[in-house]
Formats: sequence, C-alpha cells, structure tokens
Amino acid sequence: MENPLPLSFFFTLLLSCATADRGGGNSRTTILFNSDGRTDYNFDVYTLPVSDSQINAGNELKITDGQSVNYNGHFPALSSSTSLLLSHPRYQTLAAAVASPPVHVVYVTERNGSSSIYLDAVYYDDADHARRRSMLQVPNRVQLPLIGSQHSNSLISLKDKPSLVGDYVVYVSTHEDSGVPRKSWAAVYSSHIRTGLTRRLSPPGVPDFSPAVSPSGVWTAVASGGEDHWSGDMEELDTDIYVFSTEDGSDRVKVVEHGGWPTWADDFTLYYHRKADDGWWSIYKASLPKSGRVGVESVVTQRITPPGIHAFTPAASVADKSFIAVATRRRDSKYRHIEIFDVVSKQFREVTRPISPTLHHFNPFISPDSTRVGYHRCRGPANGGGGNHLLFEHLRNPKPEISLFRNYRPFPSFSPEGDRIAYSAMPGLYVVNPDGSGLREIYSGMVFYSAWDPKRKGVVYTSMGPIFAPVSSEVDIIAVNVDEDEFTYRKLTTDGKNNAFPWPSPDGKGIVFRSGRSGYKNLYIMDAEKGEKGGLFRLTEGPWTDTHCNWSPDGDWIAFTSNREHPGTDLTSIYMIHPNGTGLRKVFTSGSGMSAHPIFSPDGKSIVLTSDYAGVSAEPISIAHQYQPPSEIYTIKLDGSDHTRMTHNTYDDGTPAWGPISMRAADVVLQSNGRGCNFNDCYWITFPDNTKAEDEVAQTLGGNAKIPCGN
Ligand SMILES: *[C@@H]1O[C@H](CO)[C@@H](O)[C@H](O)[C@H]1NC(C)=O
Ligand SMILES: *[C@@H]1O[C@H](CO)[C@@H](O)[C@H](O)[C@H]1NC(C)=O
Repeated sequence: MENPLPLSFFFTLLLSCATADRGGGNSRTTILFNSDGRTDYNFDVYTLPVSDSQINAGNELKITDGQSVNYNGHFPALSSSTSLLLSHPRYQTLAAAVASPPVHVVYVTERNGSSSIYLDAVYYDDADHARRRSMLQVPNRVQLPLIGSQHSNSLISLKDKPSLVGDYVVYVSTHEDSGVPRKSWAAVYSSHIRTGLTRRLSPPGVPDFSPAVSPSGVWTAVASGGEDHWSGDMEELDTDIYVFSTEDGSDRVKVVEHGGWPTWADDFTLYYHRKADDGWWSIYKASLPKSGRVGVESVVTQRITPPGIHAFTPAASVADKSFIAVATRRRDSKYRHIEIFDVVSKQFREVTRPISPTLHHFNPFISPDSTRVGYHRCRGPANGGGGNHLLFEHLRNPKPEISLFRNYRPFPSFSPEGDRIAYSAMPGLYVVNPDGSGLREIYSGMVFYSAWDPKRKGVVYTSMGPIFAPVSSEVDIIAVNVDEDEFTYRKLTTDGKNNAFPWPSPDGKGIVFRSGRSGYKNLYIMDAEKGEKGGLFRLTEGPWTDTHCNWSPDGDWIAFTSNREHPGTDLTSIYMIHPNGTGLRKVFTSGSGMSAHPIFSPDGKSIVLTSDYAGVSAEPISIAHQYQPPSEIYTIKLDGSDHTRMTHNTYDDGTPAWGPISMRAADVVLQSNGRGCNFNDCYWITFPDNTKAEDEVAQTLGGNAKIPCGN
C-alpha cells in the first residue's frame, strides 16, 4: 500500500490531474456524462470544538486536503488509527517533531476517479511547532488510503459511512449486483486493512445503509430494507434498524421499526432519526435491554427532539453523554446546519450557522473524547480556494477499453472524428476540445441537447426553446455551424410544437427527432437539408412519449426512450426500431423505474444509457438534493447482454455521449470565478406548519433541474 504524502496540500489549488486509468493507453473510446449538481459540491471534512466558548471561525479546522470531494467523516478511536499510522515511518517523524496530538479522521473521498476510504492524521500546531516542523521539512499530514484506492485492487463501487474498528474498516459498498431491478446494491462489509480480506456482514440480497459500530466494537447497527414501499422518487426510505455482530454479521436482530441513521452512545443506547407522524424529522432514542432477548418488543424508544425544527443524521457522544450532534433545518434558513442538542435540558445550540450561515453542513460525527464535532461542507473560496469546477472529471470504470468522464454540463456530444465536444449548459451552447482547450460559447440563449452532423463539418443540431415543456410549447430544431464567427442558425422545424432531440443519420440525409405535433411526443424523420418542409416520415405513433432518439452508426437502427408500457408516467425503457418503422424491440428496462438517453457506441455494437436499475445507495436525507433513486450509467450489447454498471454514486448521472477517441485519463479544471458551492438541500424537506423555507420555492425551480425521462 502506498502512502501519498502531499507536501504542499494547503497551497495547492485543486486537483489538476489524476493518474492513469487501468486501461492506460489501450482505451479506444470515451463515454462522457453529466451528474446533476455534482460539479458544485467541493466537499471537505471540517471540525470545531464542541465547547460553546470555542465555537468561532478561527477554530474551524479543515481536516481533509481540498482534493476532490471528501465527506462522511468518522473520528476513530486513537488506539485503532495510531496503530495503523505507526506503520508509516513518516508518522513517527511527525509525532517526534510536534507536541500537540493530531486529529485523525476516516472519510470517503472521490479522488483518483473512484470512491475510496482514507485515514488522515493532521497536526494543527502552534507557531513554534510549525517552525520546527518546517525546519525539519515535516509535513503536517499523513494520509493512508484504506479501502478502494488504486493500489488495493478492489472493485469499483460506492464506499460510504466508514468506521475503523481495530484493524478493520466497516463500511457500505455497492460492488455486488442485487440482481433485482431497483433493489439497492448497498450492503455492509468489513475489510481487514493489512490483508484486504473482506467479508459481507449484510445477509445475501438484503440492502443495508448507514452502519454505525458500537463503542465496544462488538455491535453494528444499520438502517435496512424499506424497499417494499419504494415507488416514484424516494425521500424518506422507511427503513428499520437492525443490530448484528461486527465480527461476522451474526445475531442479527431488528431493534427499531421505522428508523434510520443509527448512532451509539454506549452498547445499549442508540439514537436514530425518522420523520415523525407530525411531519417533523426528529431524533429518537432506543434503549436496548441489558439482559434477556433483544428485539423490537424489548427495546424502549422515545422521541427526544420537539416539533418545530427538523433534526436528522444524529451523532451520539460517547465520553459525555449529555449531548448529541444533529443536522437541522430551521424555517428561517434554507441551509442545513450542525447543532448540538442537549439531551438533558432539551436545548439546541447552533454550531455552524454563526460561522458559515450560507453553506450546507452535513452528517455530524463526534470525537471519542466528546470534545470535537466533525461534519462536511463545501469549501468556499475563503477557505483554501477550492471553489473551482471540473470541466471533465476522470472516473475509473470496469471496462479497460473505455475511458469515462463526468462532463461539466448536460448533453455533451462528440464530433464525428471525436476531436471536439459540444454541450449545452442550459442556457448556452458550448464547444471545447477534449483536452479542455478552445472552450467557446457559441450561443448564450436557451438551447438544449447537441448532436454533430456526420458529413457537414462544424454543424451541430440542438433545440431552441424551453426544456421540460408541454407538447404545445414552441421548441424548434436548429442547425448551427460552430465554425462561423457570428452565431446564425437554420431552423429545421416549422410548426413549433415541441421538437427536440435531433440525431442525424450516418449518411447525413435524414434527422430523427421527437415532436409533440400530434398531441403526443412521438418520433419523426425529416430531411437534414430542407428540414420538415422537405418531407416528414412518422416513425412511431401512440398515446405515449417516445424520445431521446439516436441513430446507429451503420444506419440500421434508432434507439430511443419510451414510456409506452406506462403512458403518462416517468416509467421508461429503452427500445430499438429500424428507420423504416419495422423491428421494434425493447432492449433495457429497470422494471417500474426509469431508463433513458440511449447512445450507440462508435462501433455500433453497444449502447450506453442511464437507468435507476441499482436503486438507492444511501439514505437520501444524508446527501444534498439528488433525485432518488439516482440514475447511473450502464453499457449493454444490442441484444441486452453484457449489462455493465459504469458508475457507482448517489448522484443522478445522465445524458451520456460515446466518442471514437480515448481522452487522456486526467481531470480538466474549468477556470471560472464561480465559487462552486451552489447546490440545493433536499427539496422535499418542507415545513409542516407552514410551507417552505424562505426563498425555497424560487430555489427549487433553479439549480438542479430534473431531466425527466418523459421529456
Ligand atoms: C490520487 O490523486 C491525488 C491528487 O488528487 C494524487 O496526488 C495521488 O498521487 C493520487 N493517488 C493515487 C494512489 O493515484
Ligand atoms: C427495414 O429496414 C431494415 C434494416 O434497415 C431491413 O432489414 C428491412 O428489410 C426493412 N424492411 C422493409 C419492409 O423495408
């Protein structure tokens, strides 16, 4: 295991490059996609002292290094983390150079293109010690990748909610397919750090979320199941809390009906959250019997936070049991903040709002000695300059022959040679080279989608008008030559009735698109030169929505999204049809879920698409706003075989493109002045005795717009 020791992490402005892909130079094609809102996250793990007198901006410490997105921290017992860190020679040099004890934190990071778990030891010493350290040239950080780094050869998956127990990490991973559409792949595992030996603690086929290990290490509590009630968008999961042996998952028993995000004050006391019947997210306490059978009947539960304030994602305090930490939403702020709740006096004490009132703060955790509270938040420009965006973010994926990148904005598409990329920022149409150079705004108005003409150099098709609009809205397909100095466009549709998602045939003669002209969004083909005036062929017809059409490179097929099995809903599957209207067949579905945006591979043998097939991977309340279950990127062969999950995360991944080139496996930073923290809290956290927080309505309409499949 290698232990990277960045020397100048505090002065480094963001990650500017990552490392080689597993496929290295062998990659032949590239898939680009967009994750709704994710490019604004820039999370780091921070900590403040719990003591009221010490809560001020000067005492807020940024624990993680400002690289990538770092979140869901945990303060390990120092005995566990120190024994791991002692194997690191530089840790000893560091310990000798400074007197003050370091802060140790275990956390999830998305650096290096996949989700992994790291342990950092960070020294915040006074000026004298800092001078001594710098004389000895000792950095103030030791960083140990624990799980899922490139060097540990582990599978690509989402990792979440880690705890360190002796030489083991207990965490969530999504590497095993549940085998059932829209059934979560999240399960709890324990990995031995030195040997890598990994054991599944959740029973086969049972999804578990939000694990927490008891102070003795003997027991682990999880939020489990809840899937029977899953339909539509998921907000609260309706999970139950189970407890099992951390060693091997045995003695599993349900302790609480309807609860999530458990946390232990001692081996017999759990706190957890649930949305109470009065509509307020609240913290509850569960007392387990000290003898006799443990089960729902013998566990005493009690609500401890009052209505009038949403309190969730609790963190128990072990050394001083008089308080817990929670995240809250109060009506006078649209931001999520960390507060201390005194379980004796029942008083809240605000922790983060006085310091960063206009940033969201997530998922608190408390140090074993009860002196510090940790959480993650977006790093603003004032806190180390991490506010940049990534134009292209490199991700590891299971297919060595494919490079995978997250695109800054939706609807990317590759030019026929793969030497240029167009995307629509909604508003705005942009063109950029795959290395990030030559970024140009072609048009600043409202257009969505992009598709390059295979024969006419520099011609890009897009739709002008509002997205997510009804069938009668004026939306027209236009052709733009991005090589011209002045923006001009050719309008190809004339009836205005919501015409969108154009894709040209490989011979450049026809364009398939969807139109609402009949009162339903169905597919049509028109002449690429003369537009619909040159003739219109109706490809599909029915009282449902067919959309997102893509022409295969050999010209024989058109792949598209349709809700024809569930008209009027967002339940969509992927279909193919010949351009002459024959041969219709369904190629992919997630059952009663959403699959959308099919795009053929450059060799025409596969399709990339987005689907909610894998269900949720984390409790939705524990993350910033993302529609749940989130869509992820999959590739399939045309016969539906070789179905491969390309992304593992809690973000809504969509609008893929598949290009004939191999992009260099490195992140590309977008030079922008944006502060990169502009995202929403869960839009469904409303206020039961009123409606919504101030500004919330306007905010929900902006920001992370959903891209519905039925569009
Ligand atoms: C991970 O990325 C960081 C930059 O974010 C880099 O310094 C480090 O060397 C990479 N580590 C590995 C194991 O590739
Ligand atoms: C329709 O097109 C497909 C392939 O493009 C072709 O194989 C088939 O023979 C055509 N059918 C008719 C009736 O023209």
